[in-house]
This record gives sequence, structure tokens and C-alpha cells, in this order.
Amino acid sequence: MIPTIQQAEAWLQEGKKMTPGLWDDHCRYVGQAARAIAERVSGMDPDKAQVLGMLHDIGRRFSGKGNLHIIDGYHFMMEQGCPEVARICLTHSFPYQDVNYCFGPWDVLPERDGEEEKERVSQLLKEITYDEYDRLIQLCDALATGEGFCLLEKRWIDLIMRYGPNEYMIPRWKATYEIKDSFEKKMGISIYELLPGVKENTFA
Ligand SMILES: [Fe+2]
Repeated sequence: MIPTIQQAEAWLQEGKKMTPGLWDDHCRYVGQAARAIAERVSGMDPDKAQVLGMLHDIGRRFSGKGNLHIIDGYHFMMEQGCPEVARICLTHSFPYQDVNYCFGPWDVLPERDGEEEKERVSQLLKEITYDEYDRLIQLCDALATGEGFCLLEKRWIDLIMRYGPNEYMIPRWKATYEIKDSFEKKMGISIYELLPGVKENTFA
């Protein structure tokens, strides 16, 4: 089942009370971008795209920390009876489909074994064959901060500043460029022409 936009919004608002931050606004921007792209790609469902974007980081409601949001979001959405959203909670962080190709720490809460959680994500990720919606949210996640849309490269620099560089960056970036090129070809327009405020958010 795909939840409604209203339900997704209710979960975001509830989640923000549990774990404050800008993450819920980031989710709304990802949802907006996903909708704008899906509206221009034949066969895609804009409502579904928006909801998947809005809920991709819903796991942040539980701790907001590191990569645990990936598995927390997955479990939360499975419990709600929404496996299609649950898979997005998993896949959004892996444009390159390998659990190691992800920024951010796994060991963030003393009461949880980060290695075990990572292994669980790894197993689940291997069972998935990416579809257009997985790709769409991976791209949109890289295009939005909590303040709006921006250049992919700006987001990437932010991540490196936060977590430091690693050997997984370049394959991950290449995978994201491939997704961008593929959607731009289907739309016949640059993502930067499509999304409002890129210039302001990137260079402000
Ligand atoms: Fe995100």
C-alpha cells in the first residue's frame, strides 16, 4: 500500500516532534522534486513519487542519527503495511548498490550493534532489484537540503565535510550522474531548470 500525501505529512509532523531538526523539510523537498520529475516521465505516478520522497528518511524520527535511520525507516514502514515505502527507506542511501557505499556512521547508539544493523541492511539490499522509483529517490535525495534544492555537487561537498572522504565516493557519484542523465533524457529538460531556487540555495 502507498500511503496518501496527507498520511505522509502526518508522519513527518509526528516525527519532527519526536526528533526535531530540518530533516522533515528535506523530506518534503525530496517529495516535491520526485513529483516534478515523475510528472514529466511517462508511466510514473506523481503521487506515489511524492509520497516515497516524503518518507524516504522517516527513520530519522527514531533517533535522527547516522545510518540507523535506514533500517529504522524500513521497519517502521513494514509495520505500517507499506513495503514499497520500506524498500525506499533502504535503497535511497545506495545509488551504488552495496552497503559499504554509504556515508555516515553505523555505530551511533551504545545500545545498538552498528555492525549487526549494517549486515541486516546489506542482506535486505541484495534482495532488491532497483526500479525507477528507487532511482528517482536516490537522485532527489542528492538534490535537496532542508532549505531547498541545490547542485548535486554542493550536497556532496557537505557530506565530505561532515564525514571525510572515502574510496566509495567516486563510484557513488558516477552512479548518481547516470541516474540524473537518464531522467533528464526522459524529461528532455535539465533537473536544474525544473526545480526552483537551485541558484539561490547553491550560491547563497
Ligand atoms: Fe534524505
